[in-house]
Amino acid sequence: MKILVINGPNLNMLGIREPQIYGSNTYNDLCNLITDYAKQKCVEVKIFQSNHEGTLVDEIQSAYQTFDGIVINPAAYTHTSVALLDALKSVGIPTVEVHISAVEQREDFRQISFVRAACIKTITGLGFRGYLRAIDALIENGKQL
Ligand code: DQA
Repeated sequence: MKILVINGPNLNMLGIREPQIYGSNTYNDLCNLITDYAKQKCVEVKIFQSNHEGTLVDEIQSAYQTFDGIVINPAAYTHTSVALLDALKSVGIPTVEVHISAVEQREDFRQISFVRAACIKTITGLGFRGYLRAIDALIENGKQL
């Protein structure tokens, strides 16, 4: 199984940005955690981060017929991007939405998620562990096919 993990804007600043919300572990720590877990689960994983909406759309499109699952934390684009929703709908790859923080307990503008309509599951508030649970969900989903 091949899984693409996509991270949106400012997630490369983990460890520096708002540690009281996102914790003090770095983006590199997150990548290592995901890579180690994927290895353990015999899953091939590619991790991608961009601050640019169009680049994220390009990456989703390039996953077509190449990846079996997507884990996406669109970060701020969660709450604004129809383009990411349309890209996910276009490729039709099972996708899990992840947020490190409990977005449902935060500001009103974080209560909307455009991508959610294209996702089989949403995981929030589990910190970095949310990415691992998303990989589990994609593996489970793959077994049911
Ligand atoms: C986030 C939540 C978003 O609202 C925010 O814009 C982010 C990170 C999270 O992982 O908790 O950048 O997606």
